[in-house]
Amino acid sequence: MCVRSSAKPPKKNVKASEPAEPLARLIERIASETKPTKDEIFLTTEYADSIISRLKSKLPGDVEIIMAGSVARGTQIRGSSDIDIFLQFPKVMEEREMEKKALFIAKRIVDRKNEHFVINYAEHPYLKIIENKSGMSADVVPSFKISDASEIASAVDRTPLHNIFVNDNLTEKQKGDVRALKYLLKQHYIYGAEARIGGFSGYLCELLICSYGSLLKMLKSLSDAKLPVLIRPEIQEVVYGDRGLEFSRRFASNLVVVDPTDPNRNVAAAVSDESFARLVIISRMLLASKNLSSVFFGKKFSDERASASIEGFKRKFSIESCSIVMPVSKISEDTVWPQITKLRKNLEKLVSESISEPILVVQSLYQNVAIITFFLNRAEIGSESVRGPSVFIKDGASSFYLKHSPSEILLLSGERLVSIRKSEIRDLEGFLRWAVKDKKFPFPSHIMKGKSKILKRLPERYAKPVWQEMMKRVLNP
Ligand code: UTP
Ligand code: MN
Repeated sequence: MCVRSSAKPPKKNVKASEPAEPLARLIERIASETKPTKDEIFLTTEYADSIISRLKSKLPGDVEIIMAGSVARGTQIRGSSDIDIFLQFPKVMEEREMEKKALFIAKRIVDRKNEHFVINYAEHPYLKIIENKSGMSADVVPSFKISDASEIASAVDRTPLHNIFVNDNLTEKQKGDVRALKYLLKQHYIYGAEARIGGFSGYLCELLICSYGSLLKMLKSLSDAKLPVLIRPEIQEVVYGDRGLEFSRRFASNLVVVDPTDPNRNVAAAVSDESFARLVIISRMLLASKNLSSVFFGKKFSDERASASIEGFKRKFSIESCSIVMPVSKISEDTVWPQITKLRKNLEKLVSESISEPILVVQSLYQNVAIITFFLNRAEIGSESVRGPSVFIKDGASSFYLKHSPSEILLLSGERLVSIRKSEIRDLEGFLRWAVKDKKFPFPSHIMKGKSKILKRLPERYAKPVWQEMMKRVLNP
């Protein structure tokens, strides 16, 4: 193992014989408590086998079926053993045809008396089969069979190669560290590469532990990290600062983790700057804190009190807030989320221009309802100015004067006319009401503008997802 940093010489490795420090003990405890029980492993394996044998009987002989994901690698967290089964089609088929065939067959094996299914969308549509009684679920994901990265046609094609890398390179103890890391990230809402989370995927966790050697070493090293960060699991190298610049530019990211199964992919591409910064802060807090578990497990908040928590936050700093609550179409989260982001950025720009720079803006999504919440200094706006033409453009100036003089104040600004009028938008709420009504302000396709509501105080069911998103940004709630 070599952890190299251009900023500082590597710290002396912690030897196994040294007395275990509290953080090391906590990590060990989490690793063992998150290990699936023998029963869980038995039931999961049994269920996976049943699905695989049903698939085998229906699929053509040239399609391979493999177990993938964390269950196949022993890095799954207790109680969340979602089974990932990959169908590998020969690469001679056309992509859409392959998807259609895979879904068709997967649906046929569902035992409708005891199971139900949903179709989810990643790069390919895939089928999630859920056993009614136990709640166990299996994703059946179509992909193409490849033997190395040069043949990749879609993101999931690499998965079997991931299996091989992880199983060849991680020890049982390190797999325990992977579970502890996943658990830590979950507690702080930054586990998962979904657009909504912008966090660390399971595979990324595996590569991080492989590169740093252990979770403890990773936390120690990250607490001193400098950007950009370049990690190459293949040679177990970690580089901080300028030496990673070339890779950072190539992948347009501050955190690059090169996929050992594909040198052209940054496994950390989905990690947002906030998520990475948050992990660095958590690392520092874990190393400094006397109250380890409160940092590790994160600040708990009761789901029933989200609305009151938001109101408390506002009161304390004389902040006002207003939210747009919008139904969205029934479509994959990864499709709607970028649309909410776009709308949020457009609104944020307008609010900054016409009212004042928001203190915090959060977007959230919960069961087909999107919410954008603005937090602002209490502000009222009375008037707005409209810039008119130069006095020396005779016709233009005259008509501007005629139009505006009856009800507005006209001023000279240099040789130009300016009119001051009462603003229709008087505050944040007024602005948002305007935005959802005005035809000139379009909403993205999957967000139902006509059914949007403006709320100053969120009822509990909407406050909960908003508070969760706030907690991703607020470090000391
Ligand atoms: P999962 O999202 O189920 O992750 O994807 P996981 O590693 O099993 O982690 P948990 O424990 O369920 O949270 C299953 C596998 O699909 C591949 C990865 O190899 C991953 O391990 N995958 C997933 C990709 O290659 N690309 C993706 O975008 C998503
Ligand atoms: Mn999984």
